[in-house]
Amino acid sequence: KQDNKYTGRNLDPNVVGFDSSSDECSSDNENEIPLKKMKLENDAMAQPLKPTEICEKTVIEQKLIDRKEIPKKEEIVKKPAIYVDVIRDPEIQKARLKLPILAEEQQIMEIINANDIVIISGETGSGKTTQLPQFLFEAGYAEAKQIAVTEPRRIAAIAMSERVAKEMNMSNREISFLVRFQGNVTEDTKIKFMTDGVLLKEIESDFLLTNYSIVILDEAHERSLYTDILIGFLSRIVKLRKKRNNALKLIVMSATLRLEDFTTNSRLFSIPPPVVNVESRQFPVTVHFNRRTEEDYVKEAFKKTVKIHTTLPDGGILIFLTGEQEVNHLVYKLKKKFPYSDKSFRNKAELTTTTSEKISAEHKMKGKKAKKMIIPEINLNDYSLPEDSEEHSELEASDLEFDKEEEDCIESVCHGQPLWVLPLYSLLSMQKQNKIFQPVPLGCRLCVVSTNVAETSLTIPGIKYVVDSGKTKMKLYDKVTGVTRFEVHWTSKASADQRSGRAGRTGPGHCYRLYSSAVFNDTFENFSEPEIRRAPVDELYLRLRNMSIKDVINFPFPTPPDLMQLKMSETRLKILGVLDEENKVTRLGSVVAKYPVQPRFGKMLALSRNYDIMPYTIYLVAALSVPQVLLNAPTASTSDVAAVTKRWFDIRFTWANAGHSYLLGDNMVLLKALCGAEVAYSQGKLEQYCDDCGLRSKAVSEIRKLRLQLSKEVALNQIDMDIVVEPQLAPPNEAHAKLLRQILLCGLGDQIAKKMTLDEVPQGENKTKYKYAYHANNMEDLVFLHRSSIMKRTLPEFVVYQELYESNKIYMRGVTAIEPEWLPEYVPSLCNLSAPFTDPPPCFEDDIVMCTLTGTFGSQAWKLPEMKVEYP
Ligand code: CDP
Ligand code: MG
Repeated sequence: KQDNKYTGRNLDPNVVGFDSSSDECSSDNENEIPLKKMKLENDAMAQPLKPTEICEKTVIEQKLIDRKEIPKKEEIVKKPAIYVDVIRDPEIQKARLKLPILAEEQQIMEIINANDIVIISGETGSGKTTQLPQFLFEAGYAEAKQIAVTEPRRIAAIAMSERVAKEMNMSNREISFLVRFQGNVTEDTKIKFMTDGVLLKEIESDFLLTNYSIVILDEAHERSLYTDILIGFLSRIVKLRKKRNNALKLIVMSATLRLEDFTTNSRLFSIPPPVVNVESRQFPVTVHFNRRTEEDYVKEAFKKTVKIHTTLPDGGILIFLTGEQEVNHLVYKLKKKFPYSDKSFRNKAELTTTTSEKISAEHKMKGKKAKKMIIPEINLNDYSLPEDSEEHSELEASDLEFDKEEEDCIESVCHGQPLWVLPLYSLLSMQKQNKIFQPVPLGCRLCVVSTNVAETSLTIPGIKYVVDSGKTKMKLYDKVTGVTRFEVHWTSKASADQRSGRAGRTGPGHCYRLYSSAVFNDTFENFSEPEIRRAPVDELYLRLRNMSIKDVINFPFPTPPDLMQLKMSETRLKILGVLDEENKVTRLGSVVAKYPVQPRFGKMLALSRNYDIMPYTIYLVAALSVPQVLLNAPTASTSDVAAVTKRWFDIRFTWANAGHSYLLGDNMVLLKALCGAEVAYSQGKLEQYCDDCGLRSKAVSEIRKLRLQLSKEVALNQIDMDIVVEPQLAPPNEAHAKLLRQILLCGLGDQIAKKMTLDEVPQGENKTKYKYAYHANNMEDLVFLHRSSIMKRTLPEFVVYQELYESNKIYMRGVTAIEPEWLPEYVPSLCNLSAPFTDPPPCFEDDIVMCTLTGTFGSQAWKLPEMKVEYP
């Protein structure tokens, strides 16, 4: 056994032939799988590696022996020549040795050395993210080039680089991170943690990723859009690097979730890569379902946590909610209910050693606490968050209102130990994130309120109870409107199980699901759909084309996006002029691809650069990205509806009357309303203002946030522009408005409608029924102006609309009038123009001859007015 230890359980060199002459991937014919190789793959596939039962001591001993024996074995196993020593803190080393993955270092490294692509799957918390980069470093993979590790979340990239640096006793100069807008990479960097988006950007400038010896794609089970695309790219880059004798290895790491999309996809990997399963000890977790599923899961989570804390034995609590605001809200409530004060509790708790002392201290604490609890300290007008105030100013007063039941709960005197409540979400500062890994103050119970960051990305020590809302915030793409938005939905069965698993890391645990088993069984999907199936395909398509992927439809996606959607994207991008007839990215397209928004919006931003309308365009793009900005009329009674609608319409119309150009676009009116909203906001009257003009105040807040974010991104993306975002913006003047209408046409050029003439009304039909009817360029059905549209007053012949929606008829939303003579200029791909003569008229060199063009627009060949243009 001792003799064989180096070869690993499934890797007998005599069987699979690791002699240096057998080049695993040398066969150019991908379908021809070398017999020896196939055996290895099948072996590894069929029999996932099991953890060896070596005790801690043996691991260390074995490693020492290995190091001595390297020269001999090296001839057999292609392994970098060096073992780089890492001197670790003994405490850290002790903790490391407890991680399941440490027992498998041998096998894992041998498989990696022998294969270009390896999949490593293992229970969350088994040590994949923190340990694998260290194994590779010690094996010399960071000697000549860097080790890259990608994470779908910024928080994980940052936290893990910190942790690994600490474990290896090295500085951030060597173990670094790089996420968008932030990083500490240096020329000495050996291991680079980054977001998947950052690596994708690097592929754009260095397709072969020549700086790296190995790329680890972490959290592949999350199926983030960028990780999926990276897998596709890397499957090809690995081959290319191999051909150039400059091998790059790829490791795909994932929690123990569905792996078939990676292993059985022959377009992705012609030969299925070996899978290593890191098995870890998971203690049993008892799952408790709620009998009923309540709407307000934040409130339910609060009640459940109070119950656990006041009635159940010691052990950390982890609560899963969906977003930053909810997390802060619950943290605030829990802190109110179970205050932890450094002075009063900690010292006392620390002093308490014997039970009797503990009891008497508790009595004293009770007295103090009781006193404290009676006087409510919330002042809604003068509110600042206990700890996290700098970062989360968005919390609104309405979010902090408690109902009677909660109020009672808070008021009731609580006893027992204080609760050490910590928030956790992606945008939390590093310092605050780190708190979850630091020891809990003596005498306190840990309680972490988290988004699904704690599901697989970060493992929090000491959790015994999980409270699961069952919800998750999902980025959704509306295929009709093209609008991307975040919506709260039920998570999948697989993630719910991951969440409950968090309670069984250090001992048997409990998971409290705030929904019924019927909901779980009947409504939860088995797995969440990969992001690529939901993402806006236009952006993806342009991005891939811009990275010189010729045949996007045949790109080796682990799960391909909807084919129909891809084809439609291609057409749309051509109309937008970001792709040319041969499907090549145009000059405009390459600029558009730089903006972190959908191409149609990117085009609007790109074209605004040279005018003084950029701040308006940014505002407009933000407004177009948020659904339902206008309030629906109240549903009380019909007369009310009519009255309110009229009042709102009149207000908008009054604005519109302020200048002729406002009559020419719903979006112009909206822009003016938003400029007014900024003023109202600065006076603290936003709610009232929105109410008065029939705007949805949540939407307006969202637009304001988006606008700031977009301005920052546009400026930071170094698209050679210094955007200064003045919170207040004067409403656009007539000149701005005209430019903005043209910009809208440039971005929405495929969404044109032409007024239906009255003589087109079918015989015998009521003409008033068709008063607001239009023909849309790309569909058969008639589309209508909605009663809320300011365009009803002007009924322009040609309009461009933001989106269509259907209720009793198909309505256009966000309608803007355009001049027909703009069409050949701004949407040339849909115009069919002809000159009235074929022979050029005789003219002298300096002559300017005017001639008349005639033409049609779009698939329905709408006649365009005659245009006088200069000739030639
Ligand atoms: O990647 P995987 O889920 O397999 O595990 P990991 O993230 O490498 O975590 C391994 C262990 O390190 C867990 O028990 C974490 O709690 C611990 N850890 C820590 O104590 N401090 C950190 N900053 C990061 C991880
Ligand atoms: Mg991990």
